[in-house]
Amino acid sequence: MCGIVGYVGGSDAGSFLLNGLRRLEYRGYDSAGVAVHGGAEINITRSVGRIDALAGELGETPPAGMLGIGHTRWATHGPATHENAHPHVGGEGEVVLVHNGVIENFQLLKDELIKKGYEFKSDTDSEVIAHLVAEGLKKTPENKEQPNMRYVTAVQWAVAQLRGTYGLAIAFREKPNMIIAARFGSPLVIGVGRGEYFLASDATPLIGSTERIVYMADHQLAVLTPEGFSVLHRDQGKVRVDIRPLETESNEVSLEGFDHYMLKEIYEQPESIRNAMRGRLDEQDATAVFGGLNLTPQQLRGVERIILTGCGTSWHSALVGEYLIEELARIPVSVEYASELRYRNPPIDNNTLVFGITQSGETADTLAALRETKRKGHRTLAICNVVASSIAQAADGGVYLHAGPEIGVASTKAYTSQCCVLAMLALYFGRMRHLSYEGGKRIIEEMQQLPGAVQQALTCDVQVRDVAQKYKDVSNVLYLGRQYNFPTALEGALKLKEISYIHAEGYPAAEMKHGPIALVDEHTPSVFIIPHGTTYEKVLANMEEVKARGGPVIAIASHEDPQIESIADDVIRIPSVPEILQPIVSVVPLQLLSYHIALLRGCDVDKPRNLAKSVTVE
Ligand code: F6R
Repeated sequence: MCGIVGYVGGSDAGSFLLNGLRRLEYRGYDSAGVAVHGGAEINITRSVGRIDALAGELGETPPAGMLGIGHTRWATHGPATHENAHPHVGGEGEVVLVHNGVIENFQLLKDELIKKGYEFKSDTDSEVIAHLVAEGLKKTPENKEQPNMRYVTAVQWAVAQLRGTYGLAIAFREKPNMIIAARFGSPLVIGVGRGEYFLASDATPLIGSTERIVYMADHQLAVLTPEGFSVLHRDQGKVRVDIRPLETESNEVSLEGFDHYMLKEIYEQPESIRNAMRGRLDEQDATAVFGGLNLTPQQLRGVERIILTGCGTSWHSALVGEYLIEELARIPVSVEYASELRYRNPPIDNNTLVFGITQSGETADTLAALRETKRKGHRTLAICNVVASSIAQAADGGVYLHAGPEIGVASTKAYTSQCCVLAMLALYFGRMRHLSYEGGKRIIEEMQQLPGAVQQALTCDVQVRDVAQKYKDVSNVLYLGRQYNFPTALEGALKLKEISYIHAEGYPAAEMKHGPIALVDEHTPSVFIIPHGTTYEKVLANMEEVKARGGPVIAIASHEDPQIESIADDVIRIPSVPEILQPIVSVVPLQLLSYHIALLRGCDVDKPRNLAKSVTVE
């Protein structure tokens, strides 16, 4: 939530800041701003709304300067107004900063600063940090031998008083060549160029500007000047950091001819699924292989229980994982909302593995749930898309999705990759226990067909568009499915409500009779996910019950289903795959359905209202 960028070097800062913010806009888009150091003064431009509005504000001749910081905001403290937009100014203008995170004790600090005479111009918690750094500067004498150290000391002093999370980029009026960055709980990376250095909340703004990246860790501060950069621990002096190659391709963050990132990412799924499986299916031993679990064979063999935790769409994939792991590996699985798990105190046996499932790797609740279970001595693993993200670093090991950057706020390809990784984990644990060689071999063969099946499922797009046209004006939709298709029902409903703002609920199809059926009328369509499988007949009966009450029915059904047309009003066909893999295929038409409905309703598909891609606040 919120994206920050920074630049210091020999070129004009403005274009990196603006382009970088565009790439980070998915993190929040309530307001935006940049500050550019012109040598004597720092020029600040802010605007309410998207980066385009900021670009308009900056006009044809934006302030020039070779040092700058920028911010795109997802509002936490205070509404999306000009005053609350970043950058914020500290003291009499000597400090200017952008902040990503939440400061929990800001009111206390603000009261103290007001008593000292500081004037606040915004409702934000971030402005407190700006004034605190200014106060830190007041307290710190100049250091003639190491002039930058006075500023470092002031920032160290300021952040030591913060309770909460922060990713900070700080510029100083008296230092036209230096940015100080600080990180705790909110991600921050440094791009290492030649004579120029970049800062950003994630790697995407750096693509095309540099090929070398440093992932800052919690409690670290960095000093960036055109001559070089150094990283310090907040309290312990300089630290050595790894400069890594930046691996993201530039075409992964462009639209490549698609109208929206969400559509592009839906269409990328055959490839992202292939990438999730690449090198991980071992035909010889009929199992899956994972490089990064960091567990000994004894530890793996000894696992007696698995907890899968995550939020939103990632929580839905955890539900799919529960069915898969219990069926193939016969290990008991519990699925937990990370936001609940972090504050609950469930009894957890010794031989329990905890998996945090996350696209961004930055979700505050998932991170906190993993940290809490790790603190209690349990092995924690991440199933994560973003390399070197906070959750990837906090876990003892894990599996990367390799889905490539997911920019659309509504998660699509990350979800199918999560389900795919969970299927491989189920196979892996299964083959260590009860699953036969033949059984393992069959699953591998079936998984190898998945990219083709998803490709085929995508051909329903034109038909889905017609269905979307028919139902675009409804106010409520029910999504119903059983077994492996129950999480798909939840995911279909979430996709619809988050991007089209239509109220939608997902239920196990048989639960409908216990309440939700009261909602059924001629204006409330029900989407049944009903490919062939063990509960097909039962779901068909539920469908009849809806029809009998005048409810329109949309069926997501197998190509080979001859009778479905006689009951359902609209049928969207998908290829047949074994039940355990159905979630990966049957979600595709639901993703497309929400996309087209949202588009027809004039909604901003990639940046739905009130949402942000990485939820780094709890
Ligand atoms: C929905 C969606 C969210 C995320 C959730 C967790 O389309 O994207 O529900 O799934 O915020 O995010 P990650 O997976 O990044 O932890």
